[in-house]
Amino acid sequence: MTLLLHLADFDEQSWARSFAEALPGRRVVTRHDRYEPSEIEYIFIWKPAVDAFDGLTNLKAVLSLGAGVDALLQHPRLPEVPIVRFVDDDLTQRMSDYVVANVTMHQRLFSRFRADQRAKRWVQLYPAAAWEASVGIMGMGVLGQDAARHLKVFGYKLRSWSRTPKAIAGVEGFAGAAEFDAFLAGTDILVNLLPLTPETTGILNYETFSKLRRGGLDGEGPVLINAARGGHQREADIIRALGDGTLRAASLDVFEQEPLPQQSPLWEMENVFITPHIAAASSEKTGVAYFSKVISAHEQGASLPNVVDVARGY
Ligand code: NDP
Ligand code: OXD
Repeated sequence: MTLLLHLADFDEQSWARSFAEALPGRRVVTRHDRYEPSEIEYIFIWKPAVDAFDGLTNLKAVLSLGAGVDALLQHPRLPEVPIVRFVDDDLTQRMSDYVVANVTMHQRLFSRFRADQRAKRWVQLYPAAAWEASVGIMGMGVLGQDAARHLKVFGYKLRSWSRTPKAIAGVEGFAGAAEFDAFLAGTDILVNLLPLTPETTGILNYETFSKLRRGGLDGEGPVLINAARGGHQREADIIRALGDGTLRAASLDVFEQEPLPQQSPLWEMENVFITPHIAAASSEKTGVAYFSKVISAHEQGASLPNVVDVARGY
């Protein structure tokens, strides 16, 4: 068995060394090594080049370093083999950390108090308790469910929106396009954890923001938190909505164009909290452990876990 690593923006050599240790007796190569394309059975990828899959005639699976596979599914020469995406406790915990940090920050009206601090204003506004704030999570998959589990502990009112209905204790579930407006109408803090698909592209737009509950969070809501993909958001609409009060604040980890261009007005906006797509990075330690286990089990005849439904887009 030969595993090929094809990773942009990551230390390919370091991952290759870790895979070689975790898969003794198997060959691990990178794009820069000499190998026969026909010997490759598994390819581990992030941001594959256009020729990444050329000649891989004996490929058994594509292994995605990312939890999100939207970019991969756009690849013009994607082979017709199963795609396994990364599902990992460590990544999931980090995403929940990001969500909890940002939800609590907005519920405690940090953008308001930061503005007061800059203006040296002493205004004793007491934030409402967590149980008065309603958090609406878009996407109730691996990440959405874990975020809900963590937020529940703090006492927030929780609601979720997914493609198919979900029955999760303590979370009011909404599903499909028909229930989207009802979901938004009771949401003060909107958290996006959807995959990017043709249906979800541009879903974070002005119309969506204008349907969120108004007047929650002591009149300082509603708030947007996007930790999924930049393609979900219309940044011109976010800027407009923040400007006219349709949105009070936003935490954005992802952007239409990454890195976020210098000229984006988002950089300068008082009530915007920017992070550079770091909400939940894949770690080498847990990534190698997960995919080595996947490969070893598959070699023994087990089926592949977390296989992407290509037609559905996630
Ligand atoms: P999952 O596939 O486990 O969950 C996706 C959820 O979205 C499911 O609940 C699904 O509904 C729902 N969904 C999909 N399409 C629609 C739709 N059209 N309408 C309503 N709901 C829909 O994904 P994960 O939770 O693992 O990851 C979510 C995304 O997070 C990834 O795709 C990736 O883009 C992003 N991500 C971002 C990171 C970062 O650092 N910023 C890190 C990791 C991931 P159903 O349950 O009915 O199928
Ligand atoms: C991912 C990401 O999809 O890091 O894993 O965005």
